[in-house]
Amino acid sequence: MWTEVAKTDDVAVGGLKFVKLGGAQAVLCNCDGVFYAVARRCGHMNAPLDQGSLAGHVLTCPLHFGQFDVRDGAVLAYPLDRHFGAEPLPEQAQRVLGVEQRLQRKIRVEGLRTWPVRVTAESIEVDI
Ligand code: FES
Repeated sequence: MWTEVAKTDDVAVGGLKFVKLGGAQAVLCNCDGVFYAVARRCGHMNAPLDQGSLAGHVLTCPLHFGQFDVRDGAVLAYPLDRHFGAEPLPEQAQRVLGVEQRLQRKIRVEGLRTWPVRVTAESIEVDI
């Protein structure tokens, strides 16, 4: 069932918008005027992807920088180790990050669910 979820003006080019699709949460992605809808929660540790960034078709998670293709939800890059610059972190922070990195390696990253999207006049519609 096609349902209007936003107007085209609601999502700038390169922008992301959180929308509800019935009981599901999704992110609308505007890739140079072509819209895609993917699951809002990251396939790694559930970060809200509407807080991430979009470059072309690549959606980057705001938490650990995993990357997904918004066209099909495929995982493109696994979580990246964070870089805090040249200055060493305090010892306690280094220990915490070391534990976090070891745990992250044991967590699978799932691709994102996607939904068909169409634009009619100025409405963005998703088949839910
Ligand atoms: S929660 Fe998205 S990459 Fe970790």
